[in-house]
Amino acid sequence: MNMNVTVSAPGKLMVFGEHAVVYNRPCLVTAVDQRMRARVELTDDKVFFLDAPEVKISGYARPIREVGMGEIPKGAKFVEIAVKNFIENYPSSSGIKVTTASDFSSQFGFGSSSASTVCVLRALSELTGKKLDNKQLFDLAYKTVLDVQGKGSGFDVAAALYGGTLYFVAGGKTITPVKLRDIPLVVGYTGVKADTVTLMREVGEKMKAQPERIDRIYDAIVKLVEDARIKMIEGDWERVGKLMDFNQEYLRDLGVSSEKLESLISSAKGAGAWGAKLSGAGGGDCMIALAPEDKKKAIESAIEIAGGQVIHILPHAQGARLEL
Ligand code: PMV
Repeated sequence: MNMNVTVSAPGKLMVFGEHAVVYNRPCLVTAVDQRMRARVELTDDKVFFLDAPEVKISGYARPIREVGMGEIPKGAKFVEIAVKNFIENYPSSSGIKVTTASDFSSQFGFGSSSASTVCVLRALSELTGKKLDNKQLFDLAYKTVLDVQGKGSGFDVAAALYGGTLYFVAGGKTITPVKLRDIPLVVGYTGVKADTVTLMREVGEKMKAQPERIDRIYDAIVKLVEDARIKMIEGDWERVGKLMDFNQEYLRDLGVSSEKLESLISSAKGAGAWGAKLSGAGGGDCMIALAPEDKKKAIESAIEIAGGQVIHILPHAQGARLEL
């Protein structure tokens, strides 16, 4: 048996439905062609070892029997808890050595933690001959996300595993591929790292204080998601753009937009985007715009002039895969 494998998994961008998806609503997410990689090796020294230079972890090691216990450095949390969850379910006497690498900065909000969790679990499943299917891997990876950050829909885990563009309901209750070839997206990074956990908590507090108002917003977002799913398949990007604008209004009402996001969004629209919105938790990270081909360059320049960084990605990327 081959005792080491490398698995890669794509990053993601939320296209419609963030926040609402945490409260049992559907969202639309696309996998992007910037990938996370993990080389995983079974060793005979009974040690868990991690090198993850993109999150400043180098030469981190602890006995395998202590994995997941006590203090864990921030950058090691997802991988270490993923390993713990795997060996709790599928005990093994080996040591495990993980080395991760990323095509993209963990600052962008492309879901590097979830993608590395997926890479490690898929690699362990291969190495131990368990050959778990995507749903089994999803459940282990989603448990890992909940163990580490307490809350989340799991949309990022699904995108990393399945790839493509997905219609996704919280916790993986529904994971359905949306059959399309492309989404004409332009992506602008605000330069500000979003704090997803804090934003989810703030939105949760609003939900407690004004449940009816927030529920109404979420129900309206559901309608947008359902409509966008159909219009994206039809390639009616003008309509999808309008739906993005509506989604952004609701996100603003939820209080998760920011001045920088608004400035990049209005610049993109001023330069001819069909629509634009924030993507993900809000507060920072990236905005996305839908761009007619002949306006793409102008939209990119407008985002840069407004102080954003254009990130070139292809959406609808392939899910987790073994690398030879
Ligand atoms: O911060 P991001 O890009 O991982 O997006 C978070 C999206 C939320 O809906 C707010 C949370 C979730 O887990 O779905």
